[in-house]
Amino acid sequence: MEKYLEMISDGLYTFHQGSLMVEKVFAKDICSRFGTPVYVYSATFIENQIRKLREAFKSVSPLICYSMKANNNMEVLKLIRKQGCGVDIVSGGELAKATKAGFKGDKIVFAGVGKTREEIIAALNKRIYLFTVESVEELKTINETAKSLKKIADVTLRINLDVEVDTHHYIKTAKKETKFGLPEKQVESIINSRNEFSNLNILGIQFHLGSNIKSSTPYIEALKRLKRFLKKANFKPSVIDIGGGFGIQYRDETIEQIMDFGNKICEFFVENFPGVSMVIEPGRFIVGNAGILLTQVVYNKKTPHKNFLIVDAGMNDLIRPSLYNSYHEILPVFFKKGKLIKYDVVGPICETGDFLGKERLLPDGLDSGDLIAVMGAGAYGFSMSSNYNGRPRVAEVMVRGGKMKCCRRREKFDDLWKHEI
Ligand SMILES: Cc1ncc(COP(=O)(O)O)c(C=O)c1O
Repeated sequence: MEKYLEMISDGLYTFHQGSLMVEKVFAKDICSRFGTPVYVYSATFIENQIRKLREAFKSVSPLICYSMKANNNMEVLKLIRKQGCGVDIVSGGELAKATKAGFKGDKIVFAGVGKTREEIIAALNKRIYLFTVESVEELKTINETAKSLKKIADVTLRINLDVEVDTHHYIKTAKKETKFGLPEKQVESIINSRNEFSNLNILGIQFHLGSNIKSSTPYIEALKRLKRFLKKANFKPSVIDIGGGFGIQYRDETIEQIMDFGNKICEFFVENFPGVSMVIEPGRFIVGNAGILLTQVVYNKKTPHKNFLIVDAGMNDLIRPSLYNSYHEILPVFFKKGKLIKYDVVGPICETGDFLGKERLLPDGLDSGDLIAVMGAGAYGFSMSSNYNGRPRVAEVMVRGGKMKCCRRREKFDDLWKHEI
């Protein structure tokens, strides 16, 4: 347990006399003050991750555009903005929220396969840094929209390089059968006919390979393919955006350390794309292990077949285990020495797929009211949560040093119907 925390948390999640701490705050005190379930984030952890990224990519010093889909809490966004990062958005809603968090247009990149005309207008009016274009149809729409507003849109073309990555099928985004990006032939024909797009400025190329990728190898493979492609297409980009997807440790899997990961990519980049600017779009890497979900046991249910720990957080609060079969470490908030038994840790939702962890070794005596921590829940946790089964969304708390601050209040029952007419 201690070894796991050491591995993932930079010493910001620890046990003190058997009680879990987030920085210098006891997890139990967060629960007493704000209730459960509750998401908790360590501000220092987020800052450390950004510092590590900068260090690892130092020789290229890319623009870091945080992918806010991973966690869009306003406090998190402001913290990341204050570290000098830009933001990667995928919708008009994210554009509005990023703006509200203080991000300036010149550090906003806008990806996504289905940008509407309204979203494109809003982004042009905000003078965003660039659109990542995912289809010929979208390219035409951006050009026409920019023309009607008498503006020039800066764009990168998202190329689909058909690169394989070792991650869950649902989060591979660079295979040719996925909906993402433009096939090489289409990118080439856009480049050859770029003079026809009077209101576009094609700055460069983007690729995004997928999420939770554990090594630099596929990025280097993608850059090799890109180099061959650019030579063939006779195109010199001024920007290459290598997307996000940098993996993090959820358990004992082997992950290339960020220093090696960044150094290897940068070394190849500097040698093969001299003078080209780099953009990176990490989401999970910055916030994933910064956050946990605290929940309490409702029932310890034993059947002849299984032991179930039924907790007050469910798949509506954290969908990753149900959706991707992802693994989150589950720890008791108070660690007492004693017999461990195997439990399925499940939520109260009426779906068999509602689980947080299966066959987990946890103390035998856990009972109603005992607190449990679901680790590594800072990315794609709250941001993918819903009100399914009439469950108000949970509170979010930011911890820095010995201080805790609620940065999203727990929803109330009347929040469940307040938009209905
Ligand atoms: C275009 C784009 N950029 C960046 C990301 C962030 O990925 P991650 O959180 O794995 O870094 C995503 C995630 O889906 C994405 O689609």
